[in-house]
Amino acid sequence: MKKQPIGIFDSGLGGLTILKALREQLPHEDFIYFGDTANVPYGSKSKQTVTRFSAAIAHFLETQHVKLIVIACNTASALALNELRKQCHTPVLGVIEPGALAAVAATKNHKIAVLGTEATVRSKAYAKAVLKKMPAAQIVQQACPLFVPLVEENYTRTEAARLIANDYLACVKHAHADTLILGCTHYPILKPMLAKLLGKNVCLVDPAQTTALAVEKFLGSSKEQKGKGRLTVYASDDPARFKRLASCLLGTPIKTVHLKKLNV
Ligand code: DGL
Repeated sequence: MKKQPIGIFDSGLGGLTILKALREQLPHEDFIYFGDTANVPYGSKSKQTVTRFSAAIAHFLETQHVKLIVIACNTASALALNELRKQCHTPVLGVIEPGALAAVAATKNHKIAVLGTEATVRSKAYAKAVLKKMPAAQIVQQACPLFVPLVEENYTRTEAARLIANDYLACVKHAHADTLILGCTHYPILKPMLAKLLGKNVCLVDPAQTTALAVEKFLGSSKEQKGKGRLTVYASDDPARFKRLASCLLGTPIKTVHLKKLNV
């Protein structure tokens, strides 16, 4: 039987942090990545709009005969997962539940903070997923709309970034949270700075790691399988720009980015 790829999508580039973790965990698998660069950002959009974009991408991935769809985007996972599961014939996994499970496993004082886009925070998806596993948990959430542009413009190591982060982290410190979920694809890039600002007593959870484990568990595949998988990349706008920026996030050059416009 022909090997089927895993489909993975995001509003743009950020999901490459999840793809990176997936490829490290499952190097033998083929992946098709879709970045919706024509419609990014999702984090400031409504549930209806994000679901419409996500469904169009999922249907495209299904035409590529993927065996599984991974929603790498936290916002799309928070807003569109249930609808995609209804609409798709292919199984769909998101990043929220794996991220929440990792936080539940890490916290000692049951105080968990969540950073995310405005839409992810508004949905309370992480909070709901944490409370399902740990009803006594106390959760604080903070929207960080300036983090995505800081990462995309390569401003992560600037004083401006530090000041903005310090402001966003005030609620985490005030709540004495011992665990912080980095609930957006771009935030793991800021991890060293956030860790420094919060100190060593706060555990930073990157949902990419646990999502990769969840995918492995779902597929029942193991690292022992031989061969190196292929990667095919699509963007819905300006594939040349995507290619230039993507190689940094993925940590390896991408040969070709195909243009695939969505009918949305
Ligand atoms: N990928 C989005 C997320 O993880 C961040 C960028 C956006 O707002 O589209 O929520």
